[in-house]
Amino acid sequence: MEQKSEPLLEVKDLELIFSSDFGDRTVTDHISFHVNAGETLGIVGESGCGKSVTSLAIMGLLARNGRVNAGSIVLRSRRKPEGKDLLRLTRRELDEVRGRDISMIFQDALASLNPVFSIGNQVVEAVCAHQTMDRREAAARAEELLRRVGLPDPEAAMRKYPFQLSGGMRQRVMIAMALAGKPELLIADEATTALDVTIQAQIMRMIRDIRREMQMSMLLITHDIGLIAEMSDRVIVMYAGQIVEEADVYELFRNPLHPYTRLLIAATPGMYDAPDRKLAAIPGTVPENYTDIIGCRFADRCPYVTTECVKPQENREFSPGHSARCHLAAQIPAADTGAGAAGQTQPTEGVFAARASHQGASAWRDS
Ligand SMILES: Nc1ncnc2c1ncn2[C@@H]1O[C@H](COP(=O)(O)OP(=O)(O)OP(=O)(O)O)[C@@H](O)[C@H]1O
Ligand SMILES: [Mg+2]
Repeated sequence: MEQKSEPLLEVKDLELIFSSDFGDRTVTDHISFHVNAGETLGIVGESGCGKSVTSLAIMGLLARNGRVNAGSIVLRSRRKPEGKDLLRLTRRELDEVRGRDISMIFQDALASLNPVFSIGNQVVEAVCAHQTMDRREAAARAEELLRRVGLPDPEAAMRKYPFQLSGGMRQRVMIAMALAGKPELLIADEATTALDVTIQAQIMRMIRDIRREMQMSMLLITHDIGLIAEMSDRVIVMYAGQIVEEADVYELFRNPLHPYTRLLIAATPGMYDAPDRKLAAIPGTVPENYTDIIGCRFADRCPYVTTECVKPQENREFSPGHSARCHLAAQIPAADTGAGAAGQTQPTEGVFAARASHQGASAWRDS
């Protein structure tokens, strides 16, 4: 059950700036969200919306030319239940947080693993980084972790090098390393995007099961709204450096309020769609210099655009826990996806099909 106590992670008014030869650019505009203990928060949005920079800021891993200009990132871990602002930690404190309180899995396992060390070596290293144990114990724990993430022959895999494993297996190794410190929050940023669809599904399910078993919270970052439907409890939708909608996952799919969310959902294939149904990608792209836009940043792509949209749009709460940044939000009929011209139907049933089929939709609530 979702806990009503204070959230595990609370990001408030986060403003991230990147500098370049052309000057400073604000890439996230006062982002605020939280992750409750035990839940999965999905962050969805197209490429360049600011999903990765947000998660990198949480991990203290922003690129050199990036900085946090405003805001706070408070973590209330078991080790420090009173909470601490991750932006105010010393290097050493931050090193302790990484891996032990929060771990992150990235898209590119090959880049994250060291090519010259064996798998065993690297997983053992990850185990030893977080707890004091002798090499033999650590090796046993490493093998156990590799087995848990689904490596068929963990003992043999320990002796292999990253290039000798398939992409999916490498991804599993990276997940094992991320789990080594028994983190309370796992951040998965497009963790399976590079893999083929079947393997992607297997790995996501494995992550979902382990997350439950270890009672971890998760921040799931993806541009795949289907994955969001399958994995998350709550969702934030990002567009051009802003949060444009936030809701419980069921509420979001049944009653999307922001036109951008509607179009994202409409662009997702559903189980009951005709095989020849055309996928409606959202026409246009995320504006390059979104910082300079005063009004709604989605206006130039929005099928519902009105003259009001040139004014700044605030996030408004329409029902408890459900907010959106659009003056029209409550006025557009629920069945209207904004993609009517392309013959879209609301694919709500379809997107939840995967979730329901292997778990029973209600069981998700009780984890
Ligand atoms: N090191 C950097 N220097 C300058 N700008 C950057 C840097 N890293 C990210 N940005 C900019 O910040 C914005 C947000 O990027 P981010 O990587 O967070 O997007 P994203 O939502 O994760 O996209 P994707 O789905 O492609 O991963 C983009 O406009 C990007 O160009
Ligand atoms: Mg990204």
